[in-house]
Amino acid sequence: MSKYITTPIYYVNGEAHIGHAYTTFIADTIARYERLKGEDTFFLTGTDEHGQKIEESAQKNNKPTQEFADEISATFKNLWDEFEISYDKFIRTTDEEHKRGVQKAFEVMYAKGDIYKDFYEGHYCVSCETFFPETQLTDGEFCPDCGRSTSVVKEESYFFKLSKYEDALLKYYADNPDFILPRSRANEVINFVKGGLRDLSVTRTSFTWGVQMPESLNDDKHVMYVWLDALLNYVTALGYGNDEANMSYWPATAQLVGKDILRFHAIYWPAFLMSLDLPLPKHIGAHGWWTRDGEKMSKSKGNVISPKEVSDAYGVENLRYFMLREVPFGQDGDFSQRALIDRINSELSNDLGNLLNRIIGMSGKYSDFEIDSVDVIKYHTKEIDAMNSVLDSLDAFMQSFQTHRYLEELWKLFSIGNKAIEEHAPWVKMKEDKKDEALATVALVANVLAKASVMLSPVMPRTTQTIAEALNFTIDNNSYKELILEKKLLKLFNIKKVPPLFPRVEEPLMNEAPKAEPNKPKQEKKEQKKVDNTEKDNLIEIGQFFETSLKVGTVIEAEEVAKSKKLLKLQVDLGEEQPRQVVAGIKEFYSPESLVDTQVCVVANLKPAKLMGMISEGMLLAAKDEDGLCLVRPEKPKKAGTPIG
Ligand code: MSP
Repeated sequence: MSKYITTPIYYVNGEAHIGHAYTTFIADTIARYERLKGEDTFFLTGTDEHGQKIEESAQKNNKPTQEFADEISATFKNLWDEFEISYDKFIRTTDEEHKRGVQKAFEVMYAKGDIYKDFYEGHYCVSCETFFPETQLTDGEFCPDCGRSTSVVKEESYFFKLSKYEDALLKYYADNPDFILPRSRANEVINFVKGGLRDLSVTRTSFTWGVQMPESLNDDKHVMYVWLDALLNYVTALGYGNDEANMSYWPATAQLVGKDILRFHAIYWPAFLMSLDLPLPKHIGAHGWWTRDGEKMSKSKGNVISPKEVSDAYGVENLRYFMLREVPFGQDGDFSQRALIDRINSELSNDLGNLLNRIIGMSGKYSDFEIDSVDVIKYHTKEIDAMNSVLDSLDAFMQSFQTHRYLEELWKLFSIGNKAIEEHAPWVKMKEDKKDEALATVALVANVLAKASVMLSPVMPRTTQTIAEALNFTIDNNSYKELILEKKLLKLFNIKKVPPLFPRVEEPLMNEAPKAEPNKPKQEKKEQKKVDNTEKDNLIEIGQFFETSLKVGTVIEAEEVAKSKKLLKLQVDLGEEQPRQVVAGIKEFYSPESLVDTQVCVVANLKPAKLMGMISEGMLLAAKDEDGLCLVRPEKPKKAGTPIG
């Protein structure tokens, strides 16, 4: 069966912000996931260009409405192209085909007796393009949805018999409990319908920027109501009312919307479809809002964050990962650079990037970058079982759009990989002359990473492609079938070195520093230090102590620095993507061999220094008295990168 995934079509009254990018990222991820599974998938996005709101925005910008719509629509399309959004069609409601399809639908509904002409008197909110009965207004005047002032409008109008579909809708919700996702959102829709549906005004005479009436009605005073016009895009994009070849994709599998437009999609839209005798979508997925400092982000409030700016600073795939991981589907989430940086550093750089780095390092050192999976099953059934059970759990999360749970589960694979390395310590096995065992662990971890990359590819298509190149395989439907469904291992890995995937981010990379940011400006810290240093007893604040980042590190390599009596050059794993080079004055007390595979405590946030022309990116903690020097070490082995403090 084919799949059809849609985003809402975006109003062209302003450029995209990260709320729009979020809907688009989720839909793109689902579309890519379906394609990975080999499903014939059609993914639609586009722009919503009619209605009073757009007409007014164009006037404010002193532009002809069409020209204004063309310009803003292009900014959306260009942004999605730059972000490599994999849409199959970008629809515009000003497309001639779309307009013809809407007119056709109007004729079908009219012929069926579902549309009739009458008068409408009511309170209209231009921003929401919606009429409200007086009883629903806030303080008798303001829009219950956006809080803006409404105006009284009396117009001749065509009405759609929404009330006729009340029972059919309620039955559909009851028979299809997963129609609205998350399920927790269904009740508000059901209660709204149970409260009684009024027939819906579906034309306007007060302005002209809309789809004209069908000629057969011979009534050109009216233009279509923007929501009727807009909702129909989901079928006109497939050719409804024109060449209907792509209508085989209907009904939609997943229609993603923000919670603010759920009512239109879960009530009006199914009713229109019933009237057109078309099947209803399988799922409407309603996500929450991105807020900034707790307030909904919107063009009209002027508190928006530009997705282009964030992606220029942090990379579009990091942004995708962050947005999909950070917020449980359906709930609101607050955007902050700090939260984004934390996820980049800890999950992408430490967990994922580091694993790839370890595979590259170990395979290079132990077997000239060639590893095969012959012995993996012999030594690692426990890890393989754990890995398979994680992989089996993933599909259900994606089917219910819970990308945060999907990624959370997926990340368990990296723990399995990292833990296997700690537990089986291939470097020890190599020393004990158990090369088979050491290489089996490296191959296990390479398989873990390969499988994880296949499943991560819908979220981070480019990054996972690079990982696949490093591991010498291809991510596609074949590898999905073999590695995920059939649970095979990749036979041979011919590992290639690649540049670090996720360089650590130490400071916010964007200028704007939202209030919500917990990291204090640097100057404040310095000033505080000065004041405290004037104290007679030199006491410091606890905060000053925590300005020093101390971490447990594992020494991977150590060598003498030629011509130096004191210095050793070490490569220390701090749980980051790349080991750090530390040049330490301990040659008189330690031989390089005695240090490899032991743990040390490292000052991790010192500015890099040059010692005898070599960069040193950290300092080891040591104690020295008249008997000599000894390193300070954790009492028990700890994961590389574990903070001390
Ligand atoms: N044009 C209508 C949709 C018609 S669909 C037939 C519309 N456009 S919109 O541009 O205002 O919003 C498009 C989508 O962006 C909606 O799903 C909306 O929920 C989402 N978002 C707008 N602001 C948002 C946030 N601050 N956070 C998350 N998503 C938000 O509505």
